Amino acid sequence: MNIIISRELSIPIYMQITQQIREAIFNGELPAGYRLLPERKLAEQLGVNRSTVLNAYVELKSEGLIESFVGKGTVVLPLNSADAPAASTQLPGYSTPPWRQLFSERSFSAGDPLIRDLLSLSKRNDSISFSVALPDPGPKLTVKLREQLQLLMQEKSDSLWKHTATEGIHSLREAICMWMEKRGIHAAAEEVLILSGSQQGIDLLTRVFIDPGDIIFVEEPSYFSAMQSFRSAGARLMGIPADTDGQMRLDILESMLAKYHPKLIYVLPTFQNPSGLVMNQDVRERLLELAYRYKTIIVEDDPYCDLRYSGHHVPPIHAMDRHDHVIYLSTFSKLIGSGLRMGWLSAPKSVIRQLAIAKQMADLHTSTLSQFLMERMIRSGLLEEHLNDMRNRYHRRKQLMVAALHKYEVPGMTWQEPEGGVFIWCRMPAGLNANELMLRAADRGVDYLPGNPFFAQVPQTAYVRLNFSCAEEDSIDEGIRRFVLAVHDTMDARRYHQTGNRTEGLDPII
Ligand SMILES: Cc1ncc(COP(=O)(O)O)c(C=O)c1O
Repeated sequence: MNIIISRELSIPIYMQITQQIREAIFNGELPAGYRLLPERKLAEQLGVNRSTVLNAYVELKSEGLIESFVGKGTVVLPLNSADAPAASTQLPGYSTPPWRQLFSERSFSAGDPLIRDLLSLSKRNDSISFSVALPDPGPKLTVKLREQLQLLMQEKSDSLWKHTATEGIHSLREAICMWMEKRGIHAAAEEVLILSGSQQGIDLLTRVFIDPGDIIFVEEPSYFSAMQSFRSAGARLMGIPADTDGQMRLDILESMLAKYHPKLIYVLPTFQNPSGLVMNQDVRERLLELAYRYKTIIVEDDPYCDLRYSGHHVPPIHAMDRHDHVIYLSTFSKLIGSGLRMGWLSAPKSVIRQLAIAKQMADLHTSTLSQFLMERMIRSGLLEEHLNDMRNRYHRRKQLMVAALHKYEVPGMTWQEPEGGVFIWCRMPAGLNANELMLRAADRGVDYLPGNPFFAQVPQTAYVRLNFSCAEEDSIDEGIRRFVLAVHDTMDARRYHQTGNRTEGLDPII
């Protein structure tokens, strides 16, 4: 393990140590039973006070990740069996339940909850965020939503607070079919299931389709929350690599299909999360043909389809499907707001029936208020109007980010300009330490998502995902300036390190 600390950062050194050891435990680099260096020795190596290491160990102990034993030293605990810390107020003879031992095996199989405290790393309150893919619907939408909610209250005051069918309100399912027509998809209302966000669709598909040991093919890279869900059910994920243009390597896919017979192939063909790229039409058609030939199904996750700023619409794979091999997921989270929790799934009726049983167990149905509101937004044409406004706004933000990336160019950093969506995926210069970059970026007052959780098999630390939909227009240039400064800080520190001209506190320690 290569822990690096830096005194130049405003993040306390004990937190730098804690964060890096914690991450190494979650990603398996420090397995259960691993003996950490004694506090004194680690402090000596780092050139810090013993109390600094002590604080880091205390923090990790309170999280149930490590423990000290007489004669054994400080060791990493199994992730699923570390006890909760004892509360100082406990009555004699009583103790807090051993929570970690009570959690199911399944709850641990999802893996690292994506750099859980990434956001808490930044201590600056002027921090600029390029990390989370939240929409920024703008002030006009707030006014429209308020008006629509008032109308709903008047017209449907009774039904707004009642249960609906698990599959969703029929008239909303019809309205969604109209919305999908614009994307080129023809479906009947009975082939649509209303979801509490498309993440719920991923969860329901996992419950209904995946048994432990099933194989799922995903693009490399792919959406980390879907992979977490699949892993939690015991699925084996296999990544299909892309060529230099970001297109799926169908030759590799075909040989893997012949060998492994996956239960499903999960793809994000349009403005992919995280790469922002679009699978071209020819690749979509050939992928579908392969699914037919090898008798597997495709799950097409399509949250960003409507957010195109240039180029031509490429129809979803679902629109090309003639033999019911595609399950299609989409959402209004990226158009209106993720707090609305409104998504949908389109699939053959028999699949909808089975998924509806699982949904009933999960949440009975999606919020009635959100469903009625969404129906009004679609049928009144307000959603379409809002979408045009949103496209213009996101397009401008994308252009600002692209301009800033050119302006503050980093030698060796490469990226492709996306035609839509909300992400720019950057490949960083070779040899850059991803952990250190994250800390330095937080210190400079900017955050982003590191690339490794997006890889199914071998984590690749060379990538970062920058989101441009959230940050204010006038902060994008400054955010990229800070990010690039953090890259330079990290590269400079490495150069010092390599030439032996070390600055104090930058030594790798384990
Ligand atoms: C590819 C992908 N699928 C699903 C989701 C989840 O969206 P929702 O808010 O509808 O659950 C996201 C959200 O970022 C996403 O990027």
